[in-house]
Amino acid sequence: MRRSKIKELLGGKQAGDEVLVQGWVKTRRSSKNVAFVQISDGSTLADLQVVVGESLPAYQIVDSLNTGCSVSVTGTLAESLGKGQRYEVQATSIEVLGQADPETYPLQKKRHTPEFLREIAHLRPRTNTFGAMARIRNQMSQSIHGFFQSRGYLFIQAPMITASDAEGAGEMFRVTTLDLDNLPLKEGAVNNEEDFFGKPAFLTVSGQLEAEIFALGLSDVYTFGPTFRAENSNTSRHLAEFWMVEPEVAFCDLEGLAELSEDFLKHIFSQVLENCGEDMEFFNRWYDNKAISTLEGIVNSNFERLTYTEAVDILIKSAESFEFPVSWGLDLQSEHERYLTEKRVGRPVIVTDYPMEIKAFYMRQNDDGKTVRALDVLVPRIGEIIGGSQREERGDVLLERLRQAGLPEEAYWWYLDLRKYGTVPHSGFGLGFERTVQFVTGVPNIRDVIPFPRTPKNAEF
Ligand code: 4AD
Ligand code: MG
Repeated sequence: MRRSKIKELLGGKQAGDEVLVQGWVKTRRSSKNVAFVQISDGSTLADLQVVVGESLPAYQIVDSLNTGCSVSVTGTLAESLGKGQRYEVQATSIEVLGQADPETYPLQKKRHTPEFLREIAHLRPRTNTFGAMARIRNQMSQSIHGFFQSRGYLFIQAPMITASDAEGAGEMFRVTTLDLDNLPLKEGAVNNEEDFFGKPAFLTVSGQLEAEIFALGLSDVYTFGPTFRAENSNTSRHLAEFWMVEPEVAFCDLEGLAELSEDFLKHIFSQVLENCGEDMEFFNRWYDNKAISTLEGIVNSNFERLTYTEAVDILIKSAESFEFPVSWGLDLQSEHERYLTEKRVGRPVIVTDYPMEIKAFYMRQNDDGKTVRALDVLVPRIGEIIGGSQREERGDVLLERLRQAGLPEEAYWWYLDLRKYGTVPHSGFGLGFERTVQFVTGVPNIRDVIPFPRTPKNAEF
């Protein structure tokens, strides 16, 4: 018999059908002459109830059906009299595939703390939270590709190993095959010529510069992949390895980019609402009782637009006492971002035109000589989930910026070349995928919305 997934059983089969189901035991209850075993297989949040009557041979082994063990069940699908499920399976046979010793299996309780679950990242996919999280991540990935594909964007795979610092912020992990205990020297310094690539190489912080290369030939492209940052930020919204979606659009200015960011987020959110109802209800119940209504509100309203200068004015005039200072020229901290989007506007806010000094070298300078065509999208609870800009397409201005920023212009020769040959106005942004999953689900810590979180001093699994 072909195996049926639980989702398929609960959705598409009929009472009376013979079925084969395989999964892991969540709980077991036995009464005098019947046992109820809940099993899950990841296809849906709902467990399947398997009923084992005392007249069956399988009834002899129900006592060994411990939480966590894996089973193969055959039986008949039947309308369920119990509440909470439409169907159950009346077992004819049950085979234990793998035991899970109840003395040592860590997932015995119904609820565990997120901190504990992080220590058993190899088992947490079996919890409801991680199942729901994985299904929502999956839906969101699909929606991201769907959005860009339906608009004719090409998916470009940016390299993970690179020699250039896309953000110019010096927060890169070095990739090397040099023997760190015995470094080759040349004139008193490390001889990088002996390294694998003949020069220092790093894990990428962003696929933007490579996306720009393709946009300036193919018009509309996007990347979606892991990016790495060696910033020592131990916060609930920073990871050392996170996924980023980066569209790059030729012939597009900041206004076009702002529209794109709004359409894009609305598309993802509405698809999650449409296709992940059960999982969203789970998060709404256990993590944030406004998770669903927040997404619905966003899908049906317009994002607010503010310039950085307006935002700073609002913050200064607000009666809030912030931990970090607010004044024109300082970067917005997450408390400021959250004030703007949560308290002031109650919706996502697109902040544009930040001071040049606090933004990356590639952003297009405004005529005021002080600000750049930057764009950040802020959402309640998280703050910034998108950062982007119109790009500096003027070669001479870009070269000047690189020099001012103290970046080695020879390392960016190809980036400058793009401005020399057929340059066009173009814009792009980066969406932090995990921050978006955090926002959608209401899960407070970013470590709990990625399968394997990488943070300072933590890379066990
Ligand atoms: O604002 P960022 O640094 O922008 C860039 O990297 C640009 N190159 C993107 C572009 O224009 N193509 O990062 C973009 C987004 C942030 O808004 C945030 O959501 C997320 O990436 N992000 C992080 N997410 C988790 N952990 C970190 N350490 C993050 N740093 C940035
Ligand atoms: Mg940013």
